[in-house]
Amino acid sequence: MPTQRITKKRNTHRNIVLALITGLMLSGCVGGQLGKHNSNEYRNGMVVSASPLASKVGLGILKKGGNAVDAAVAVQFALAVVYPNAGNLGGGGFMVYRAASGETNSLDFREKAAALSSRDMYLDSAGNAITDKSLYGHLAAGVPGSVAGMVEAHQKYGKLKWADLIEPSIELARNGFKVSARQARELNGLKETFTEFNPDGTAFLKAGDWTEGDVLQQQELANTLEQIRDHGRAGFYEGAVADSLIAEMQRGQGIISKEDLKNYKAVWRKPTIGNYKEYKIITMPPPSSGGIALLQLLKSVETYPLKRWGLNADSTVQLVVEAERRVYADRAAYLGDPDFFKVPEQQLLDNAYIKNRMSNFSWNKATPSAQVKEGNLNGREHEETTHFSIVDRDGNAVSITTTLNGSYGAAVVVKGAGFLLNNEMDDFSVKPGTPNMYGLVGGEANAIAPGKRMLSSMTPTIIEKDGKLFMVVGTPGGSTIITSVFQTILNVIEFDKSMQQAVSAKKFHHQWLPDEVYTEENTLDSLTMLKLKAKGYNIIPRGSIGRVDAILKTKWGYYQGGADPRGDDSIAAW
Ligand code: DON
Repeated sequence: MPTQRITKKRNTHRNIVLALITGLMLSGCVGGQLGKHNSNEYRNGMVVSASPLASKVGLGILKKGGNAVDAAVAVQFALAVVYPNAGNLGGGGFMVYRAASGETNSLDFREKAAALSSRDMYLDSAGNAITDKSLYGHLAAGVPGSVAGMVEAHQKYGKLKWADLIEPSIELARNGFKVSARQARELNGLKETFTEFNPDGTAFLKAGDWTEGDVLQQQELANTLEQIRDHGRAGFYEGAVADSLIAEMQRGQGIISKEDLKNYKAVWRKPTIGNYKEYKIITMPPPSSGGIALLQLLKSVETYPLKRWGLNADSTVQLVVEAERRVYADRAAYLGDPDFFKVPEQQLLDNAYIKNRMSNFSWNKATPSAQVKEGNLNGREHEETTHFSIVDRDGNAVSITTTLNGSYGAAVVVKGAGFLLNNEMDDFSVKPGTPNMYGLVGGEANAIAPGKRMLSSMTPTIIEKDGKLFMVVGTPGGSTIITSVFQTILNVIEFDKSMQQAVSAKKFHHQWLPDEVYTEENTLDSLTMLKLKAKGYNIIPRGSIGRVDAILKTKWGYYQGGADPRGDDSIAAW
């Protein structure tokens, strides 16, 4: 492939990711009136997701008497149909769960590297990274985890019949749905890429351009969903759907085998839990870096008077940036799949360690990232994803972030089965020090190995206050996920914002390398910018940061939603 085309394609890809997460439309509530308190508060249950159609599916399940997990399973499958840029069957994700009883759990259904993968599989003969191989086409895909994850979640906590949770998605795939203006733009932008990787065509390609309101039907995907409805896990990892996936691998020199599919298992893991003031943060453990990084960030700023300084004040921005710089440096060195690499979780969350990490920044001057390495543990022991938050009438809560990695993943639709392959392999550290799609670097901890899960930044989180449910939160956004969840939480807890205000508020981001502070437009006023620039902060404006979908439980027991205006995100509640 000529380099120029690769560059163009990568840029197009980036632009699509950026376009996808940019926008100002705030979708309205689609919920009924029952249990409504005031404009945005409900009593009986709430679903906040990236798509009004998916939120509606989830609400339907809640109204049928399903619990939050039932609704989550239905929303995951619905997003695979109506939000194919990130919703998926061929990807993976993480779920954090908190039952009304206080029981907490987390489910890892992250993709895994195939048995035939190897550490240097994306390096050329001179040892240089050929990252497009980890981003496009068959070789970019990890073994999918989403279907196994949904089966696990349903078996453990579900109440309604499995088939009832998938039926709405089959209908949406079979009969089609109207694409939004945003979706039409994205699909048109990817025409060249889809044509290149799907020579026999896909439902995403049509004669002429897509326009808002065109109906997208996905018959092959509907057939696959029927297999999953009728045979559960075996309907995807074995039989006709698995055969189609293996045939697709053979067509495109991919390496996922029948054995890989059969062996894939979703794993229940102990959530990472920590405190911030009087709040208990229940979040995702490794192979996500998100939970540990979120707790490190919260602990790094806990003792400072953020409330007094105020949202986006220069001191607030400086402190948050310096905390993020250090935490992302730790991420690059210490975080990886815990089944392959011993993640020093306790040490990274040690109060003295964090205090020490924060002790060497100066209020007078930015700490150059070149001078910041991962912390010394003293022998003590990283665009397109989607997040949804769900609560039911009983108070059970589910926080799920799920992804194909890039928008429309590897751009390969499995012939005969109608679902997209992920390009999650790019989340591995392809070569130490070489940045991935999100500019994140890594090393040994996140090197490729057969059966290993690639490090993630996804941070599905649930927060308790006084032993009761307080918040359900998460977002897409690659490396900015951790930042966005962190700042949304601070917006509520420290800056007294409503859930919607906290979600809508502009965000800023620093990830250690590159040594730059990214800000959404109009985040910082001109005086604050001048002050920070004078101290050596390199401030770069960029498109959207995050697309948070969250729910807050008010002290009066009502659910308050926050649907991100940066997308078509939507609250459905009753
Ligand atoms: O797991 C991760 O961290 C990435 N694959 C997430 C990708 C993502 O959020 C893209 N969204 N805009």
